[in-house]
Amino acid sequence: MNKQTVLSGIRPTGYLHLGNYFGAVQNFLRMQDDYNCFFFIADIHSLTTHPTPENLQSGVRQVLAEYLACGIDPEKATIFIQSDVPEVSELYAFLNMNAYLGELERTTSFKDKARQQPDNVNAGLLTYPVLMAADIIIHKANFVPVGKDQEQNLEMARKFAKRFNRMYNKEVFPIPQPYTFGGGDMIKVPGLDGSGKMGKSEGNAINLFEDPKSIRKKVMRAVTDSGPTEMNQQKPEAIQNLFTLMKIVSTADTVTHFDGLYNNCEIRYGDLKKHLAEDIIAYTSPIRERIIEILEDDAYLAKVAKMGAEKARESASRTLNEVKDVIGFRKLF
Ligand code: TYM
Repeated sequence: MNKQTVLSGIRPTGYLHLGNYFGAVQNFLRMQDDYNCFFFIADIHSLTTHPTPENLQSGVRQVLAEYLACGIDPEKATIFIQSDVPEVSELYAFLNMNAYLGELERTTSFKDKARQQPDNVNAGLLTYPVLMAADIIIHKANFVPVGKDQEQNLEMARKFAKRFNRMYNKEVFPIPQPYTFGGGDMIKVPGLDGSGKMGKSEGNAINLFEDPKSIRKKVMRAVTDSGPTEMNQQKPEAIQNLFTLMKIVSTADTVTHFDGLYNNCEIRYGDLKKHLAEDIIAYTSPIRERIIEILEDDAYLAKVAKMGAEKARESASRTLNEVKDVIGFRKLF
């Protein structure tokens, strides 16, 4: 039986953080043995914030090294850079003809970005979900391991795939599903600032590449409160966030221990934070060491990018030919 296809991607704006790792990369790692896997670096998407050429290039290189350091295996999965596969941009142009202004303007991520960067509300931001749909469906992906923040973008990709199939009355694209390990909810890793998700632009993230000293400093500064005053009281968001992070990186015993202290009003947040910081460091240190090693090996990075580009182009051009045929492009020469 043919393997089903999985695809996911990350924008190369800075370093990978714990949200990227636990929201997307970890699920992907669990799939690379059993599925036909594509993992890519969304460098075209990152142009919405106008990086300098130097930042763009170093970001791509860094994220590639980080993927590899996390354990994504280029012999098993296809690791590639979005701009190395021009077929994606072509499909994006076609899909844009069936994407409507109203639905794009209503997308939460567009509204958020328009608020965050009011002087740069460009068309790329508006059609961001269309490019993302092109990324996914050009490889006919069945599953997309992403965090909760991408739920709506993935819903749009499903919509565009269905719309294309319906318009041309042909099942060209499978309808991509979100993938979560064990079928649970999509993951949202919280930030350290008391509310919301961990994010690159939110300034509340811990990066995989972060050194232990900086991790300790960031965790010790995380927002807390003056402590519980009643037994078994509900945790406010900032405290719940620290426990959520702990659930992700620490053992169940550790979580139960601190939960018990909280419920008995005996918790000392300093102790919890110290423990949390060391557990995060235990997770990230080996990855950080591998990142440093891989970044020194330009020839290896180039080899991986080339191999990935070739495999991804082969798959993308197969779909694009089919799409062009279905749309009705015929050569006159
Ligand atoms: P990006 O670069 O913002 O994030 C990459 C991946 O990390 C996940 N993630 C999180 N998951 C849980 N908790 C968090 N705090 C958290 N922060 C980030 C994201 O859900 C994502 O899976 N648009 C995408 C990149 C992209 C893409 C695609 C992904 C472009 N085309 C096609 C999948 C399929 C993005 O900006 O992700």
